Amino acid sequence: MWLTRPPGVYPPQHDTWLLVEALASAAVSPGADVLDVGCGTGALSVAAASIKPRAITAVDVSRRAVMAARLNTFLRRIPARVLCGDAFERVAGRTFDLILANPPYVPGVAARPRGRNRAWDAGVDGREFLDRLCANVPMLLAPGGTLLLVHSGLSDGDKTVAQLQGGGLKAAVVGRAEVPFGPVMRGRRQRLIELGLIEPRQNTEELVVIRGDRPATP
Ligand SMILES: C[S@@+](CC[C@H](N)C(=O)[O-])C[C@H]1O[C@@H](n2cnc3c(N)ncnc32)[C@H](O)[C@@H]1O
Repeated sequence: MWLTRPPGVYPPQHDTWLLVEALASAAVSPGADVLDVGCGTGALSVAAASIKPRAITAVDVSRRAVMAARLNTFLRRIPARVLCGDAFERVAGRTFDLILANPPYVPGVAARPRGRNRAWDAGVDGREFLDRLCANVPMLLAPGGTLLLVHSGLSDGDKTVAQLQGGGLKAAVVGRAEVPFGPVMRGRRQRLIELGLIEPRQNTEELVVIRGDRPATP
């Protein structure tokens, strides 16, 4: 998939494409109202156009990402509304039939992320964004709606599943892939070893795709 990507915007990679694959086999009905959380270049919004949605809303905290996603969807005549700001603040009070999320999930750093690091840094346990997502998704999903989420197994997929189930969703891991460490993980190797999250010789991580479904009737 060809995409405009200004410097500092997350380049679509293994996690992005794993979620695109999951979307292709998710059997989502046409006419869905779609939310792309942390859209980056808009790669997931572009992929979502193939399910013939009613509308796509994409949100990112990075102004450059918003510019890129607007351009990448506009050039394909995809009618996406791309909003700038915190995902949960910008869409509070709305509901969606399909939520796609490839959020920041890399563990290891406690400081509040800035600049391009906002695309991946997610606190020491990698769950700062994931915990917020799991808390918000039950309110953001319409009855019968579906969440498709990808993150590293290092950020505790079982916890994500348990949190979504605690919010009343049917949730399970529906995809896995072992992928080589990218530059961020390679740069953080020593820290992750100290935290006991990886083995000294480890150079791959498992990505998990998690699906959550809100029952159509309470
Ligand atoms: C891992 S990247 C994924 C980008 C794209 N969805 C993809 O799959 O290629 C995560 C994105 O989330 C955005 N982000 C981080 N914190 C956010 C927040 N609070 N609200 C909205 N977007 C956020 C980052 O700017 C980044 O573009």
